[in-house]
Amino acid sequence: MIPSSAPPLPEDVDSLLRTLRLPHIRRAAPEVLATAKAQRWDPAEVLRALLTEERRGRDRSSTAIRRTAAGFPTGKTFAAWREADSSIPAPTQAALRTLEWVHRRENLVVCGPSGTGKTMLLEALGAAVVEAGMRVAWFTLEGLGAIVRRHRVDDTITKVVGRIVRSDLIVVDDIGLLPVSGDAAEGLFRLVDAAYERRSVAISSNLHPAGFDELMPKTLATATVDRLLHHAHLCVTGGDSVRLAQASAGLGVVPLTPTGADDGRPAVPSSARRRG
Ligand SMILES: Nc1ncnc2c1ncn2[C@@H]1O[C@H](COP(=O)(O)OP(=O)(O)OP(=O)(O)O)[C@@H](O)[C@H]1O
Ligand SMILES: [Mg+2]
Repeated sequence: MIPSSAPPLPEDVDSLLRTLRLPHIRRAAPEVLATAKAQRWDPAEVLRALLTEERRGRDRSSTAIRRTAAGFPTGKTFAAWREADSSIPAPTQAALRTLEWVHRRENLVVCGPSGTGKTMLLEALGAAVVEAGMRVAWFTLEGLGAIVRRHRVDDTITKVVGRIVRSDLIVVDDIGLLPVSGDAAEGLFRLVDAAYERRSVAISSNLHPAGFDELMPKTLATATVDRLLHHAHLCVTGGDSVRLAQASAGLGVVPLTPTGADDGRPAVPSSARRRG
């Protein structure tokens, strides 16, 4: 339908599109104009097609920027998620995926043993939040501790936390895997307090939040968990580690094949071959 060898735009038009920063119109215009000419489009239709291209292109760019800014750990999404492998009931998974809880500024706490998909679920939900046009900020507890340390010196921590809670969803992943420093505990409290009833916070932990006083000073743990759980959905994961199941089934790696298999010998660095 769209001619493949559309004539280029006149130079002055191309230059105007550059100056006015309309890169997506500039890219699409030659083909849109050629199609419009061939199919005798109404002029308003041409304008609509070009502006739609610009809008779509800008949406794609801003999604990519928000995805990078979120700082997701692996980039996994629901495309790779196997609903049946999660011990979280399917209706709960479906309800979480609607993201209505984010719109309602409610929190999400996912807790359970290692390898049961807590991080992947939060990451896939985070990616969906980004796709829906919202902002996500991803942290580990140690990362929060480092932020507190860095900004305590010049007393800008309140400002920094204020900036973080501009995101629609703030994730703190893997609480309880490592010993919690005083800075990290302070960072978590500051974040949960600043986001309380204003933004969604999602955390993953090997411990139920009721046990957070094993990780941090009791007063701080109580104040943090109180705010965190007031409007929170709690999902408890269970069962075997997906990592262990995949490793046991030989699915954790791609089978090794010797490079240079054509001569039937195992791969040996050329320097070693020379020595041998
Ligand atoms: N439902 C699922 N569908 C697809 N892959 C899954 C699922 N659950 C877990 N995995 C995979 O299993 C591995 C472990 O999952 P994940 O890192 O989310 O576990 P975790 O509960 O956060 O563990 P830990 O407490 O050790 O941090 C990852 O490679 C993840 O992609
Ligand atoms: Mg994890």
